[in-house]
Amino acid sequence: MYNFQFENTTKVYFGMDNFEHLKDACRSFGKKVLLVYGGGSIKRTGVYDKVVAQLSDAGMEIFELSGVEPNPRHTTVNKGAKICRENNVDVVLAVGGGSTIDCSKGICATALSDTDDVWDLVERKVPYDKALPLITIVTIAATGSEMDTGAVISNMDKNIKSGIMNDILRPKVTFEVPEFTFSVPKYQTACGSVDIMSHLFDVSYFSAQEEMSMIKGMEEELLRTVVKFAPIAFHEPENYEARANLMWASSWALNSFLTCGIRHMTVCHMLEHELSAFYDITHGHGLAIVTPRWLRYILNDETAKDIYRFGINVMGVSKEMEEKEGALASIEALEKFFFETLELKSTLTDLGITDKDFETMADRVTAWGPIQGYTQLTKEDVLNIYKMCL
Ligand code: NZQ
Ligand code: ZN
Repeated sequence: MYNFQFENTTKVYFGMDNFEHLKDACRSFGKKVLLVYGGGSIKRTGVYDKVVAQLSDAGMEIFELSGVEPNPRHTTVNKGAKICRENNVDVVLAVGGGSTIDCSKGICATALSDTDDVWDLVERKVPYDKALPLITIVTIAATGSEMDTGAVISNMDKNIKSGIMNDILRPKVTFEVPEFTFSVPKYQTACGSVDIMSHLFDVSYFSAQEEMSMIKGMEEELLRTVVKFAPIAFHEPENYEARANLMWASSWALNSFLTCGIRHMTVCHMLEHELSAFYDITHGHGLAIVTPRWLRYILNDETAKDIYRFGINVMGVSKEMEEKEGALASIEALEKFFFETLELKSTLTDLGITDKDFETMADRVTAWGPIQGYTQLTKEDVLNIYKMCL
């Protein structure tokens, strides 16, 4: 385990009873709030009215940015930063999924920086060391953005999905109300659940580092939680326990805790971000297609043990097999979970994607050299994995 510093400063209010603290949380940062949300789900579900009622009670002056896209665009971030600047906004309130929260993080940083374009921060042309305070109300269990330091932003003019990461972007306060996720459609429930699992795989479960037993054990419990509750939420969208467990698991899968002591790259996320940059697909769906292919590709005498351990401890695969056979059975169990239980389409071809851009995508993923993850992957390896996804 490498040395590390750990701090997570997000205050979390979990559950409907705690939602009333929203007004005090907002008021504690000032009087002017920018309310950021996506394509309208919060209006349909009534969450918008609940939020506005509290902000009005608190006497806040409300500015709004709506229409944040899934895979949020840098241009939308820039619009929000402009509103903040022109109106001296004190605090940003994101109500939605990872896209809305990430867009808001970009807004918080850009608004106080020396540029009006978040892409200058992404490309590190302009340094930033301040950000407006961010409060989030997360409405889908998926990214963990509600407690983490990263913001993933898309520049569709350049087909680049990249982002910014900084401790100052971590939300100050987050509200998690499982009832707010009852309306998440089946498809997004599936994609969000895959994303949670992929964070665990990518950040450290599949890691070349030895002696990570405490971290791996906790990750297995989180993985089991998703495997147990995602199918329940999928079929019974208003099952409180299922939604609550998924919600809290999503926050813990990526809130800096499980990355302590680890140093490696998040392979499947790197491969997937190219797919959504080029084809604007749903992040979790891309991960569902890439992950099992990646596992099949890297399966060898060294990796079989870890993959089989995952199968036994998370997917309920029998312990009685020879290591490689067990690892294959584990990958098959994961595929069954993604493509049968959660009913996700299993190939890029199903999503209308061809090999047209694979060369460019593989070039970009390996622009700084081979990916140093659980195993090392060269450009050729990346190309092979993309081809397996067709
Ligand atoms: O836009 P609205 O109308 O709100 O609808 C959204 C959107 O269509 C809908 N939705 C969300 N909550 C809902 C709901 N529909 C009904 N009821 C609700 N309660 O779901 C759709 C997807 O929303 P989105 O915010 O895009 O989902 P998600 O949370 O999966 O976020 C994905 C984005 O986060 C990035 C991804 O790359 C992608 O851009 N990620 C961010 C990370 C981070 N900040 O740490 C890490 C992740 O690995 C990921 O890369
Ligand atoms: Zn993710």
